[in-house]
Parts: sequence; C-alpha cells; structure tokens
Amino acid sequence: MAGGLRLGVNIDHVATVRNARGEGYPDPVRAAEMALAAGADGITAHLREDRRHISDADIDALAATCRKRGRPLNFEMAVTPEMEAIALSHLPHAACLVPERREEVTTEGGLNVARGHNAIAPVVRRFVDAGIRVSCFIDADLEQVAAAKDVGSQVIELHVGAFCQAIRERAPEAQAHLTRLRAAAAEAARLGLEVHAGHGMDYETVKPIAAIPEFMELNIGHFLIGEAIFIGLGPAIQRMRALMDEARAVKAA
Ligand code: PXP
Repeated sequence: MAGGLRLGVNIDHVATVRNARGEGYPDPVRAAEMALAAGADGITAHLREDRRHISDADIDALAATCRKRGRPLNFEMAVTPEMEAIALSHLPHAACLVPERREEVTTEGGLNVARGHNAIAPVVRRFVDAGIRVSCFIDADLEQVAAAKDVGSQVIELHVGAFCQAIRERAPEAQAHLTRLRAAAAEAARLGLEVHAGHGMDYETVKPIAAIPEFMELNIGHFLIGEAIFIGLGPAIQRMRALMDEARAVKAA
C-alpha cells in the first residue's frame, strides 16, 4: 500500500474486449488474479443494468476469487432493486453506488445523493446491516458530501474525471477542479467519511490526486487495461503504484 493509499483495479474493460467478439476471452477473473499478484489491493467491477461489459457470471466468479484470496471486491452498482438483490446475495466487501444512464459511454457524473436521499438511504441501511461498506460516487460538491453522510454511507468516492480530462486537454479549469476536489475531500474527512477517488486517472493525473492526503483508495480501470496492451497488466499496475508512492512520498517530505 502506497503511504496508506490503496489501489483498486477496475477490470470492466477486459470484459468489454471479450464481449466485442462474444468469445470467452480475455477473462476478467484472470485479469483480477494478475492485478492482485501485481500489487492491487482490491478489485472493482461494475455490473451495469445493460450488462455491456461485466456479466452476472463474472460477478459470481470475481466474488469467489476475491473471497479465496482474502481481498476486497468493490461492487459498483446503480441503486435498483435488481442490483441490491445481487449485492446482498454476494455480500462483497464494498458497494459503490453510482448513477447509470443507458445511453452514456461511461459514468458521466456523480450520484445526486441530495436529491435521491429517500431512495438511497434505505438501501444504504440494508447494506450496512448486512456488513457491506457503502460508498457513494459523487462530484466534488459540498452539498453531495453532506448528503452522503446523511444517508449513512461510510465512504465517498469523488469523481475525478473532469479534472483528469481538463489535464489531458491542457484546459485552464484543471486547477479549479483540483481545488474543489481538495475541499470536498477535506470536508468528507472532517465528517468522518473515508475518501476514495475514481474515474479517468492515468499516469499523469494520478499524481496530483494521490497527493491529496485524505484519499485512502484510488479506483483505476480503463487506462490500465489500455496500457496493458502495450506493456502488460502487471507492469502497468506496478508503474501506477510507483507513481502513487512517489506522490505520497513528496507529500510526506
Ligand atoms: N470508480 C467508479 C465509481 C467508476 O464508475 C469507474 C468507471 O467505471 C471507475 C472508478 C474507474 O474509472 P476508469 O475506468 O476511468 O479508470
């Protein structure tokens, strides 16, 4: 673990490649095993309602693999009765509640916990009672941080996608996004929430994010699976970990 910072590897896009041809390969479970062997602290997978990448059978197998290895599975899910039943049948270490729209390419924004309080709070309660750690995937917005605390989640995952995109586009708003992320992370920690980050990170953007001391876990997928094509999954994960370590070492110095 890098200075108290965990790396969760999201293996969804191994399934995207598999599903492009309807074959049985590449296998997300094999990717999960390799990721854990390369230094990932846990595995993240998103079972979307449209099953465009991860399938129900993948979740069964990933849950069994993580249990066997004693490593956490972070189950990303929309707040629907179907997904709730699947989560309760597997009892993963963690569930990360995300918004989902069928037409989106990926999770485009955070969950509106403030507006969805009445639908979200009972699900959080049932998960917490079942021993599942609940995280709300939200934008860096203080109202959403307070709402996540209010519904009873123990964790928030801040959506860092807009910051990462601004950095890649060399856009001037990058600094403002980073300032908002810092403020939201600090407020969440003050409220006693554990703080994670996810979406869109690559070798360049991971460092300023890892340097924010409140973050305890980064969940990274798409870039790592793409990079694996060129250098292999293990080396890509090891390089990402090294960058996380460097960012934390600078902070501690
Ligand atoms: N965390 C959450 C909540 C997500 O929805 C995603 C994307 O599925 C990720 C992390 C990983 O993002 P990426 O694949 O862009 O690294």
